Amino acid sequence: MTPESFAFLSGLVKARSGIVLTADKGYMLETRLGPMLRREGLAGLDVLALRLRSAREERLAAEVVEALTTNESSFFRDGKPFDHLRRLLPKLAAARAPGQALRVWSAACSSGQEAYSVAMVVTELGAALGGRRVEILGTDLSREMLDRARDGAFTQFEVQRGLPVQMLVKYFRQDGARWCVKPELRAMARWQPFNLLEDARGLGRFDVIFCRNVLIYFDAPTKSRVLGMLAGMVAPDGVVYLGGAETVLGLTERLAPAAGERGVYEQARQAARAG
Ligand SMILES: C[S@@+](CC[C@H](N)C(=O)[O-])C[C@H]1O[C@@H](n2cnc3c(N)ncnc32)[C@H](O)[C@@H]1O
Repeated sequence: MTPESFAFLSGLVKARSGIVLTADKGYMLETRLGPMLRREGLAGLDVLALRLRSAREERLAAEVVEALTTNESSFFRDGKPFDHLRRLLPKLAAARAPGQALRVWSAACSSGQEAYSVAMVVTELGAALGGRRVEILGTDLSREMLDRARDGAFTQFEVQRGLPVQMLVKYFRQDGARWCVKPELRAMARWQPFNLLEDARGLGRFDVIFCRNVLIYFDAPTKSRVLGMLAGMVAPDGVVYLGGAETVLGLTERLAPAAGERGVYEQARQAARAG
């Protein structure tokens, strides 16, 4: 691939997703886009770049971006945020007006393990939520991942990562080589495409936002923009969970780390009051 083709393709990915592909990622384009090249009968990445340059091929461009997302996820990933959520939800449930649902957003939800982990926490809390309804929304840029999440079927390998065996038995049913989320749990989550670069106001306000392991792919200005948007969407007493390698420091003043909690962020005013 010529440097011009790499610059064009990485520019397209950055503009459409925020994902930064550094110059050493040429091999990644080759391996991830290989199947698409074969299917489209394209001789190589230079031809793909040429085709995308010359015609606005929305489907092909979206497919290039999707192929370059990293969709790694697991149930109860990093553990701690879900322990925190277990303590937080009863408090939020008690603080809300009667009839008002609690809303949890798994932004960049990939194949759905994060949102289903939230659904299991909510189910396990049961009466501690005082009958409060909890809405769980999973969004991602990748339609393929959203289809997988909606399907709620996972491999043996996927359920072995982070999911306690008693939860597996309780919330999944085995179907050949796959483990399928039981309908009660599946019914608790809604899925919809959403790009974090877009205006999210239409999604409404959330009590809890999980936005984990996606900002790491963005540059600082994009991280700042997304974090500012999340700050505007989380309830004053709600929280934003970020991944272990992510922070708000130097990126936004609107969110601040919750005292003594790793990966948990609150509206800055709220954190100042608590501290
Ligand atoms: C590594 S996964 C993280 C999944 C999950 N949040 C977790 O922590 O396990 C990153 C996800 O971010 C999604 N993604 C990347 N850029 C995005 C964007 N601009 N808008 C929405 N989702 C995006 C990818 O499609 C991918 O599914």
